[in-house]
Amino acid sequence: MFDAVVYSDRRKRLKNEMKSGIALFLGNQEASYNYPANTYHFRQDSNFLYFFGIDLYNLVGVMDIDQDKDYIFGNDVDIEDIIWMGPQPSIAYQAQQVGVSHTANLAELNSFISQVQKEGRSIQIVPTYRGEQVIQLADLLNVSHKEVKNYVSEDLIKAIVKLREIKDEYEIAEIEKAVDIAYDMHTTSMRMAYPGRVEREIAGTIEGISLAQGGPVSFPIILSVHGETLHNHGHANVLEEGRMMVTDAGAETVMHYSSDITRTVPVGGKFNERQKGIYQAVLDANVKAIEAIKPGIKYRDIHFLAAGVLVDGLKKVGLMKGDTAAAVQAEAHTLFMPHGLGHQMGFDVHDMEGLGENYVGYDENTKRATTFGTAYLRMGKELKPGIVLTVEPGCYFIPALIDEWKAENKHAEFINYDLLETYKDFGGIRIEDDILVTQTGNRVLGKPIPKTIEEIEATMANKL
Ligand code: GLY
Ligand code: MN
Ligand code: MN
Repeated sequence: MFDAVVYSDRRKRLKNEMKSGIALFLGNQEASYNYPANTYHFRQDSNFLYFFGIDLYNLVGVMDIDQDKDYIFGNDVDIEDIIWMGPQPSIAYQAQQVGVSHTANLAELNSFISQVQKEGRSIQIVPTYRGEQVIQLADLLNVSHKEVKNYVSEDLIKAIVKLREIKDEYEIAEIEKAVDIAYDMHTTSMRMAYPGRVEREIAGTIEGISLAQGGPVSFPIILSVHGETLHNHGHANVLEEGRMMVTDAGAETVMHYSSDITRTVPVGGKFNERQKGIYQAVLDANVKAIEAIKPGIKYRDIHFLAAGVLVDGLKKVGLMKGDTAAAVQAEAHTLFMPHGLGHQMGFDVHDMEGLGENYVGYDENTKRATTFGTAYLRMGKELKPGIVLTVEPGCYFIPALIDEWKAENKHAEFINYDLLETYKDFGGIRIEDDILVTQTGNRVLGKPIPKTIEEIEATMANKL
């Protein structure tokens, strides 16, 4: 937990951004896995963590904007709880640690909310993402579950994004810790990527590294020799010489800040010539995009810059042809990279995504595209100092997509379909880093994780 003043200051700034009413923040509850008492690993809600800091279930935070007062509602443990959970500090004591002096039992929350409703004051919430939240809110607000969404406040969402998008030095230090854990996860993955291993042996080992050094992984690990399937969560393939293995994995720190790193390596530790060509194209896109990151530039422009570098690399190996700028303009590159260049990071690996991607990654001056591939760009807005984001270009050979485009002869002036046929067994490559936008440019966060061909081969030579 940070100092109490950090949380008081965040709440003060949020209240200053808001006009009136109350803002209601549900902390998360335990969620059952396969029977009621067998629960998933508890994860506190990120907005609750940001403003109220307490990493415990069954709490509700309230900010009264009109009266400039903050409340935490929660129940102190009783003797039954102490038997199963051990002694716990009182809610009042925990609230004091985050600068909140008004606390009350959860049973009092319903009458508190009714009183606010009687006074005709607005009650504002953020979007929900768990069924339990909808039920709890329907009960509290005395409305049907379908009406709960009417209380979601655009003003509140925008005010939260304005605060959370800019990371302070303490948050940046936490994200760097998370990247340093990812360093150990990724170098271990590289050193294990030898023929005969099953993907799950590596995935399980690196998940353990995250748990041992901080918290659980920040999202389910993607580790596969079928990297062309973008969110591939299967780990059943046996590694074979000639395949590329994608590892997209990050850690959460004890304070719940995330990392999100991808590395792609040749099974067996040596790149062949075909792999080198594609790998270098993606690496150049990653490096050039990072070089261009600075305040004032729109991330959408960096996305297209990376696309151009990728096209240049694919022209070198003969897979693309024609004028690079025209190919990017026509979005011909989306056959190879049908996703966006990156997203913001913080508590959430896709930071604040629960508030709505378009509120988080776009603004009045930058509207989201609707075209294939580019529509998946989660962030297009102008960069500001303090934003932390990922840069994650990739190149994928998706047989079904290649077949579809080829059948239509789509963008045939830019794509060499005959050669592309011979790449259908290639898989995919993605290279992802976590970047802080600084006052003058940017900084790659954490200990540098091997990413050039030479660095990867040298790391893999130290086989595990
Ligand atoms: N880990 C999923 C992503 O890179 O966004
Ligand atoms: Mn990732
Ligand atoms: Mn990512």
